[in-house]
Amino acid sequence: MTVITNIEDLRVLYKKRVPKMFYDYADSGSWSESTYRANERDFQRIRLRQRVAVNIEHRTLATQMAGVPVSMPLALAPVGLTGMQWADGEILAARAAERAGVPFILSTMSICSIEDVARHTSSPFWFQLYVMRDRDFIGRLIDRARAAACSALVATLDLQILGQRHKDIKNGLTTPPRPTLKNLLNMATKPSWCAAMLGTSRRGFGNIVGHAEGVENLTSLGQWSAEQLDPTLNWDDVQWIRERWGGRLILKGILCAEDALLAAETGADAIVVSNHGGRQLDGAPSALEVLPEIVAEVGDRIEVWMDGGIRSGQDVFKALALGAEGTLIGRAFVYGLGAMGEAGVDRALEIIRNELDLTMAFCGLTDVQSIDRQALWHGSKSWPAPASD
Ligand SMILES: Cc1cc2nc3c(=O)[nH]c(=O)nc-3n(C[C@H](O)[C@H](O)[C@H](O)COP(=O)(O)O)c2cc1C
Repeated sequence: MTVITNIEDLRVLYKKRVPKMFYDYADSGSWSESTYRANERDFQRIRLRQRVAVNIEHRTLATQMAGVPVSMPLALAPVGLTGMQWADGEILAARAAERAGVPFILSTMSICSIEDVARHTSSPFWFQLYVMRDRDFIGRLIDRARAAACSALVATLDLQILGQRHKDIKNGLTTPPRPTLKNLLNMATKPSWCAAMLGTSRRGFGNIVGHAEGVENLTSLGQWSAEQLDPTLNWDDVQWIRERWGGRLILKGILCAEDALLAAETGADAIVVSNHGGRQLDGAPSALEVLPEIVAEVGDRIEVWMDGGIRSGQDVFKALALGAEGTLIGRAFVYGLGAMGEAGVDRALEIIRNELDLTMAFCGLTDVQSIDRQALWHGSKSWPAPASD
């Protein structure tokens, strides 16, 4: 039995337990994966400033994200196909988030539907919206999220077209997997994943099949998604979404100060500085690298959060030190889910919480809301550190 002490342990176990096509789907970036790698690497370049002989006995990580009380400034990012990483994955992750006191964000491209997740949780989760050409469907999706009492809408703006991930094409990624010889041989080595999957009926895109016109089965769904991504999406559409939704709105996928300013002008509640986990524009900077300039531009007008590359509580701490007021984790919780199901997501959150708490203490701080650049070694001069690779 492997002793799990960090997120990397969960990744290794996840790789053993989940079919290759779904592991690859998560552990990959677009084209050369340079942006995917930069997200993690840039965290490593930041140095922390240790303090001693400060009373750090009583500490708190509790704060708010867009006015929602959270036990630490972190949410589970929307991740498509989570229910393929482990049977009923969205429900399991949402429950773990609920126990941990952090928001769970359900992807439009989830396996379990909005209504299904609502039935199996007791506190409100958030819903992530992809804007597609079929605006009637999008309008109904927004209404369904409201009816399910979702307490925030996260509109993702960086997927008007799809970045290419070589592995997904080579693996012939489908949901559910096609019964080819290669897939069957690989699945034969993942007995617990198969057993769990055979025990659920949730294997398609729950928010879409049966709700969007012309999508009755999965073959037509692939075609529908390819045709439906909307390259015309613009700031007027964001206003339309805001009015239709009428609640707390978060805009995800902002990567430069100019767009951050436009996002702030919409009256949204928060933005997520994000390059979609390195899955869209390869060659874009890491989210962490652009965070300071975006905070400088709009930090006094709108909450700025970030995601991309967070694999530890230390990474969360560094993002907060550079001005983020909240963070999202994608792969870190997926690794936990694929490794150990619901208990794995619990474990991932526990690991990150513990690392964040101890890092804060080592830096002589007792309140997560007081983390700022002072906690970085040499303050602002330590960023960016000279490249070592
Ligand atoms: C497998 C996978 C699927 C994703 N699906 C979605 C999605 O459906 N909607 C969305 O807004 N972002 C999606 N993202 C991006 C995440 O929300 C988040 O921005 C990213 O994972 C953060 O980087 P990290 O994985 O390094 O933490 C996905 C990311 C991964 C890894």
